[in-house]
Amino acid sequence: MFIRPLKSFDKTLETAPDKSITHRAVMFNAAAEGSAVITNALLGGDCRSTIACMERLGARIEVDGSTVKVRGTACFRDAVLDAGNSGTTTRLLTGLLAGRGVSATIDGDDSLRTRPMKRVTGPLSLMGADVTTTDGKVPISVRPAALHGIDYMMSVASAQVKSAILLAGIGADGVTKVTERTLSRDHTELMLKAMGADIMRNGLTVSVKRSELHSLDVRVPGDISSAAFLLGAAAVVKDGRVTVRGVGLNPTRTGVLDVLSSMGMEITTDNPGCGAEPYGDITAVRCGELRPFTITEKDVPSLIDEIPLLAIVAAYAEGDSVISGAGELRVKESDRIETTAAMIRAMGGEVETRPDGMIIKGRGGLTGGKVDSFGDHRIAMSAAIGALGSRNGCEITGADSAAISYPGFWETIC
Ligand code: S3P
Repeated sequence: MFIRPLKSFDKTLETAPDKSITHRAVMFNAAAEGSAVITNALLGGDCRSTIACMERLGARIEVDGSTVKVRGTACFRDAVLDAGNSGTTTRLLTGLLAGRGVSATIDGDDSLRTRPMKRVTGPLSLMGADVTTTDGKVPISVRPAALHGIDYMMSVASAQVKSAILLAGIGADGVTKVTERTLSRDHTELMLKAMGADIMRNGLTVSVKRSELHSLDVRVPGDISSAAFLLGAAAVVKDGRVTVRGVGLNPTRTGVLDVLSSMGMEITTDNPGCGAEPYGDITAVRCGELRPFTITEKDVPSLIDEIPLLAIVAAYAEGDSVISGAGELRVKESDRIETTAAMIRAMGGEVETRPDGMIIKGRGGLTGGKVDSFGDHRIAMSAAIGALGSRNGCEITGADSAAISYPGFWETIC
């Protein structure tokens, strides 16, 4: 895929529906009594993996356009599951299945097979779960076991790990408590509460007791992680401006807006609404030169998936942008510290990598070149945004991977 530079970018549009919320709406409704309708669902590769897994476990699911109807079952059947490229499907499902009396194995593609799973099976074993990994990775096998609550202090900042423990907690005796050092996305807590679970937050600690879930209709807002690419386009193209309508504005996800504001972008939100979660329209306007930014550990959970995009935008600023406390990037769909740095270098930029981050030496722009996405959707899309402001444009290999989280991305930006 070749992306040409643009002279102007001035658009008002919608973005892809939220991936995290779609996963949860499908998975939790599949485990609930009754039927639910999920509208504006994301039907990218990862969420399709979740749908396929839940069907195999016995839920009845119908997809019609972007509407997904789910008839749940309180009683899953044994299954062999393929989570594809999706860490969220794998980790959340491992927690959900641990106390439900089923035997299941969960496997996935070559990228998923490199990703750490003991962070989930470790705490689940402490709860009495019979879950085993293959050298710490998928295939994971889950066998029937009786679970009990634990009081768990998170060692990695991960909403997937937190969610897995909470989902096991709704099938466990006693109270399950999870404490985080920094709040990660809280979609699981909000949705479980709305589905009738006995769940409560106190500061950075969430407690849950054994609960039955009731089905819940969900209208999924736009994904701020996908909107970020459009905001990024407004940042790298001279006099860029964009309004993205109906984007989820859960405060645990909005770190990208703070960083773009700190760079000198004018960011405003408008038309607020609240369905399953708060949402609104985001407008981003580039007003003059971009300033470099600093991202530290405490910021990372609120913008973890946006770092490749922010890093390429940093190459359009004047000066050094510093990212630290982001070692988790090394265990995403690719090693995103190295693949992000390789992307920026391939386009003529300068980056130094660190074990837990990188320094991007911004020189006000990029020349362009040839980028390998390494099959990572967020690298492919970040490279495309970098190309829009570049001198010569960019050839991107593995561009198809964008469909994991943002079907229609290429039509939207080309
Ligand atoms: C997600 C949590 C994050 C994020 C991923 C989606 C979720 O992963 O990177 O894309 O939906 O819970 P971690 O929990 O591993 O940080």
